[in-house]
Amino acid sequence: EKGTYPHFMLKEIDEQPFVMRKIINEYQTENNELKLDENIRAAMKACDRIYIIAAGTSYHAGLVGKEFIEKLAKVPVEVHVASEFSYNMPLLSEKPLFVFISQSGETADSRAVLVKIKELGYPSLTITNVPGSTLSREADYTLNLYAGPEIAVASTKAYTAQIAVLAILAVDTAKAQGITLDFDPMQELAIVANAMEILTDQKEGIEELVREYLPTSRNAFFIGRSTDYHVCMEGALKLKEISYIQAEGFAGGELKHGTIALIEEGTPVIALATQENVNYSIRGNVQEVVARGANALVISMRGLEQDTDAFVIPHVHELLTPLVSVVPLQLLAYYAALHRDCDVDKPRNLAKSVTVE
Ligand code: F6R
Repeated sequence: EKGTYPHFMLKEIDEQPFVMRKIINEYQTENNELKLDENIRAAMKACDRIYIIAAGTSYHAGLVGKEFIEKLAKVPVEVHVASEFSYNMPLLSEKPLFVFISQSGETADSRAVLVKIKELGYPSLTITNVPGSTLSREADYTLNLYAGPEIAVASTKAYTAQIAVLAILAVDTAKAQGITLDFDPMQELAIVANAMEILTDQKEGIEELVREYLPTSRNAFFIGRSTDYHVCMEGALKLKEISYIQAEGFAGGELKHGTIALIEEGTPVIALATQENVNYSIRGNVQEVVARGANALVISMRGLEQDTDAFVIPHVHELLTPLVSVVPLQLLAYYAALHRDCDVDKPRNLAKSVTVE
C-alpha cells in the first residue's frame, strides 16, 4: 500500500495536507460551526487546569497544544512525559482534566498514568489516531485524529494532526467561555494545508540542503525560541531516530549556558525563525554559532526572511507555524537517513508502539 512511494514515511509526509482537510471536514458542521462532543466542551470548561500526558513526538505536540490552550482559552496547562509522571506526580490542582495524546492509543507509559488518575477519580480525554485503542476505550472522552494508518515508525502526519486537533479544541474552549477570537481557525487550517502542499512539492530543494548541511556530520543542533523551540525538539527527534545523527533541539537563549561549547568548524545548526517577537533574538543566536564555525541552515517564514536564509516557508497564522515548519524538518530527516542507507521506515531498536514500560 506504499503505492509508488519508496517508503511509508515519505507517503505519510505527503498525506499531511489531506489530513488537514479531513480534520477541517470532520470538526465542522454544515453551518461552519466547530463540531465537538458537548461533554468534552463541558469538561474543558469545568476544569481549572489541564494536564497533558504523552511520550515522544506526541509529547512534542502537547507542548504546542499548551500554547494554544493557554493563549486562546486562558486555561493553565502542564505537559508531562508519561513515564515521569507515573513515578513523580506533581501537585495537582483542585479540578484537573487529563488529556492523553497518543497516535497508537497503546503506549504503556501513558496507560499507566490513566489507570492511576482514574483511581483518583479525575476526568480524562484521549486524543488518538486509533479510535478503538486502549487509551480511547479507557478514557472518558475521545477526539480522533483522522490521519489514517501511520505505518512508518517515525511519526509525521500524526504529529501535525495532533496539533491541528489541539488548535480546534483550544478555539472551541475559548468560544465556550465567551472569548472572541479575531480569526477563523478552519480558514487558517486550510491555509496551512495549502502551505504544506507547497512544501511537499519542494523535496528536491530539501534533499539538496541535506547534501550541503548534513553530509557526514555525526551531530546536529536545532535551535529556536518560543514555539519554534518545541518544533526544534521534534525536528531533532526525527533526525536522530531515523538517521542516527546525534541531534538536540535547544532554546536559542540556552545555547550560551553550555551547549555552545560543542559548536566547532562545520557543525550543522538548523535554526527556525517563524516567530516575529523572537526573530531578532534567534538571528543573534545564529550569528553566535556562525562566529564559532557552525554551518547554519536558517528556515524562516515569509515576511520574516533574510537574504541568507536557506529555506523560507509560506506565511501562515503565527500560532500554527509548527504545522508547516515541521515539514521541511521531516524531509531533512528523511533524506539524511536515505543518504546514509538507513532503514527509514524501521529504524533500529524502535517499535511503532511501545506497549511495555
Ligand atoms: C517518534 C515516535 C515516538 C512516539 C511515541 C508515542 O517519531 O513515533 O516518539 O511518538 O512512542 O507514541 P504514541 O503517540 O503512539 O503514544
